[in-house]
Amino acid sequence: MADTFDLTIIGTGPGGYVCAVRAAQLGMKVAVVEKWPSFGGTCLNIGCIPSKALLHASEMFEEAAHSLPQLGVEVGAPKLNLTAMMAHKDDTVASNTGGIEYLFKKNKITAFRGTGSVAGQGKVVVTAEDGSTTEIETKHIVIATGSVSANLPGIEIDEERIVTSTGALKLDKVPENLLVIGAGVIGLELGSVWARLGAKVTVVEYLDRILPGMDGEVAKQFQRMLAKQGFEFKLSTKVTGIEKTESGLVAHVEPADGGEAWSIQTDIALVAIGRLPYTQGLGLEEAGVEIDKRGRIVTDGHYKTNIDGIYAIGDVIAGPMLAHKAEDEGIAIAEILAGQAGHVNYGVIPGVVYTNPEVASVGQTEEEVKAAGIDYKTSKFPFTANGRAKAMLASQGFVKIIADKATDRVLGCHIVGKGAGEMIHEVAVLMEFGGSAEDLARTCHAHPTMSEAIREAALAAGDGAIHI
Ligand code: FAD
Ligand code: NAI
Repeated sequence: MADTFDLTIIGTGPGGYVCAVRAAQLGMKVAVVEKWPSFGGTCLNIGCIPSKALLHASEMFEEAAHSLPQLGVEVGAPKLNLTAMMAHKDDTVASNTGGIEYLFKKNKITAFRGTGSVAGQGKVVVTAEDGSTTEIETKHIVIATGSVSANLPGIEIDEERIVTSTGALKLDKVPENLLVIGAGVIGLELGSVWARLGAKVTVVEYLDRILPGMDGEVAKQFQRMLAKQGFEFKLSTKVTGIEKTESGLVAHVEPADGGEAWSIQTDIALVAIGRLPYTQGLGLEEAGVEIDKRGRIVTDGHYKTNIDGIYAIGDVIAGPMLAHKAEDEGIAIAEILAGQAGHVNYGVIPGVVYTNPEVASVGQTEEEVKAAGIDYKTSKFPFTANGRAKAMLASQGFVKIIADKATDRVLGCHIVGKGAGEMIHEVAVLMEFGGSAEDLARTCHAHPTMSEAIREAALAAGDGAIHI
């Protein structure tokens, strides 16, 4: 006799596990299926969490070398213990994935270990590592199987010398040279980790700019800051192949739109050219579930696929591949299945690059409002004019606000600066409430805080900032 559930979720990343918890809170009998040894998906095991552990640790290492002496704290030259740093990362991952196990128990969610596949409407089969199978009967199925790293044709990833983010999170020594292919979020975050620990980082990017999708002005200024940190950028350039030699790697590169080829010698190459939705082995073709040209599961505005009873959320469907987007979709679908009005506002999803300084954005970029033909105004405030930033030696960067010229409604905010990823949320809340730059400007901000720069940028959208 098969187990029966109201809802079965395949995949326990931020989309899947959050959906499971919310559905259980709403009274459903919930099962999850996970093929990895620990819960939490890409984000907790090989993504957000381990990368942030290494970003924090490497930032501390760099601060000890460069910032502390300027503050009058003399601790001598810092010494790297990479094994201990990696142990901190592994402990952080274990404590977070263990937390999901606790949440499943607390919410009486049944977890099946193995690969889940759809075996028709209302049926999921779980195949364990030893080949044994379990059949689950379920009213609804949510697919939350996430994404995997994309690769370049002809390049063989070995996760030792030619690595994806997964290998770059566990290198056993600091490479002398690191070649990063792709100036996106992964390339710049993990490039930062190894640059801070001593690697010479060269970034090859196909486009003529870094961080496509982020505000162009912000990306340009940020690129300059990274260059000062030692990053070397080769924009409008593509890698056509990587040769493995005994002394290292030789990457063959050429201008993106053709021209003379040349080569780059490196110890490690990190391929960070985007991620692809993961739908293999799910039985979707047999079940008749529609997939788009980019491999994503097609859903309607309510996460339903073209097959009744089958839904999909997170990286495996359209939209930004972000943990919080997956989580919010998990909550929304659980609420919809419980008969409530679950909803995600895709216009207000913050994006953060956790480098130093951080880059954070919410809403539209200047390029987007321009393309949409909106009559807009922009205003900026630099951290060089912020008292707290000066006290913390963190005066790099600025806040940029984009608002509708006629109504003053905030359409977007882009910040480069220390702690930008925390600061961006006041603007996200403001935008959820349809607030204006004047609303921000009239809100009392504690002094001295970095967040005052947001208020000053908002003041600059009206009668003028005070401190500049
Ligand atoms: P995933 O987290 O990918 O989880 C999918 C799960 O499904 C996995 O556990 C997988 O084992 C399981 N699975 C797949 N197929 C099956 C099957 N057939 N049966 C059973 N189980 C299956 N996002 C942020 O917002 N902030 C960050 O700081 C951030 N940092 C990142 C850093 C790196 C290095 C990477 C690679 C990604 C990062 N991301 C970050 C992106 C984030 O990890 C993803 O957007 C997020 O994990 C997507 O969640 P998901 O639930 O859709 O899928
Ligand atoms: P990305 O899409 O952010 O960046 C990929 C970059 O590679 C782009 O700049 C692209 O133009 C470039 N590129 C593509 N093909 C290329 C080629 N052949 N040669 C050279 N450059 C090429 O993808 P990335 O960095 O791999 O990250 C994947 C996903 O993970 C992103 O969607 C991101 O949202 C998510 N992520 C989020 C983080 C965060 O929120 N802080 C951190 C890390 C990942």
